Amino acid sequence: MSAATAMQMPPGRREFDFTMDDHRIIAKIAYSTAGILLPDSKTQMVYGRLAPRVRERGLKSVAEYLKLIDQDAAERERAIDALTTNHTSFFRESHHFDHFTAEVWPGLAQRLTKGGKVRLWSAACSSGEEPYTWLMSALGSKRDEAARLLKQNFKMLATDLSPTVLATARTGIYPAQTMETVPHELRRTWTRKDEQSLVVDPALRAAISFLPLNLLNDWPMRGQFDAICCRNVMIYFDGPSKERLQSRLADQLVTGGMMYIGHSERLEGPVAKRFEMIGRTAFRKIAA
Ligand SMILES: C[S@@+](CC[C@H](N)C(=O)[O-])C[C@H]1O[C@@H](n2cnc3c(N)ncnc32)[C@H](O)[C@@H]1O
Repeated sequence: MSAATAMQMPPGRREFDFTMDDHRIIAKIAYSTAGILLPDSKTQMVYGRLAPRVRERGLKSVAEYLKLIDQDAAERERAIDALTTNHTSFFRESHHFDHFTAEVWPGLAQRLTKGGKVRLWSAACSSGEEPYTWLMSALGSKRDEAARLLKQNFKMLATDLSPTVLATARTGIYPAQTMETVPHELRRTWTRKDEQSLVVDPALRAAISFLPLNLLNDWPMRGQFDAICCRNVMIYFDGPSKERLQSRLADQLVTGGMMYIGHSERLEGPVAKRFEMIGRTAFRKIAA
């Protein structure tokens, strides 16, 4: 037994045995499945997220759970789901939506009116706050005009690896306090109250397709997008995964299309040459 294996981390009160070797096995699975990096410093977080699964499956240690996920693909997916960090909020990094609404949407709305198509993608959308923010910002508070545009050839795709957050996104139900960052007019137009919750308007929900997608795997989409939000997911990836993902995102964008990334992310490697930076973490594709 290695010194690491012998070490129970931290010594003391854990409901289940969990060794550094267990952590590293899990980290390897998370990296190869989802690109997610889980360095040794994340041991406590990993334990906290897996312990409920170990308990639910009636097991005595994380090692037993690792044996289970080795054979049970569905449980392995649940483990990866549990390991994702889904932090998000309405109007997070709202400068992206300000830019899109002022500089990009008017042209796209005109195209819709003339019978053209518009495609937007929120990649790694978590529980839906990002795509709902994006769409309600663009549409504004004039419902009739919004309804007219939504009837045109418009689609917003919103994807995530985690089925749990996608289930929340599809309901469009959020605790009222999470919507405090939504400007009053937009809240009044696009939500209704239901006890302690706010429910997103069905018209807005229907305009967004929430689908499971692992950004590391093949993508089924054929057409290109006019704008992509891929924010605060690449921070969990290493350099080669980021570079590959960004190059694929660039391929999936029309020339002239917009890509918005998270505040601590940047374009990595040769892909940067395909974009011009036109604002804070906002990039326009300039070359195929
Ligand atoms: C921190 S949230 C960001 C949510 C939103 N984009 C925002 O900026 O507020 C990161 C999301 O990335 C998802 N994710 C992690 N790895 C992924 C992968 N390989 N493919 C797709 N989604 C992934 C997680 O499930 C999580 O919901």
